[in-house]
Amino acid sequence: MKEVSVKYLTASVEKTVWLGRQLGMQLIDGDIIALIGDLGGGKTWFTKGVAIDLEIDPNYIVSPTFTLVNEYKGRHQLFHIDLYRLKNRTEIMALDLEEYFSGEGIVVIEWADRWPGDLPEERIQVDLRIVDESTRELGFSGRHPRAQAIIKALKQGVGTSLKEIK
Ligand SMILES: Nc1ncnc2c1ncn2[C@@H]1O[C@H](COP(=O)(O)OP(=O)(O)OP(=O)(O)O)[C@@H](O)[C@H]1O
Ligand SMILES: [Mg+2]
Repeated sequence: MKEVSVKYLTASVEKTVWLGRQLGMQLIDGDIIALIGDLGGGKTWFTKGVAIDLEIDPNYIVSPTFTLVNEYKGRHQLFHIDLYRLKNRTEIMALDLEEYFSGEGIVVIEWADRWPGDLPEERIQVDLRIVDESTRELGFSGRHPRAQAIIKALKQGVGTSLKEIK
């Protein structure tokens, strides 16, 4: 399947949250968002945006410190996974995180590149990059028809090319 992608620049935290909302409004149970990028890249702020659109209080969304998965109830359930603290493959495998892909809610994974093996192919990958102190680049990509449909809807709502969201 051909990859579909789009990239945006957000010039503030608020715009990263706003972009999260634009994605959040497209999501339904079973959708998987894989966030990849630097420490402080904006993964958690972006997740807060997704949460707002799911009618979840964004103040509850923090990087899970001791837990690996936080579960929230909103318009859809949100499973917020953070793999940062995981040391190795065996540790991840032991946690049976695949259970969250059964379609009962929306899954957002921070540090998704630490997932051992391949994530489900319907995932939407979001690569977050620090451009400067207040600017982040967010690249959305996916191959599966579901991921393609979401990225297409995002382009319709936000625009089709790399542009600064001020
Ligand atoms: N345009 C921007 N979008 C998002 N965050 C920004 C932006 N500009 C600056 N920041 C700052 O970058 C940091 C992003 O923090 P956040 O916790 O969302 O990152 P993260 O990718 O989840 O980090 P970690 O890998 O530690 O979980 C915050 O301190 C925020 O104030
Ligand atoms: Mg985080």
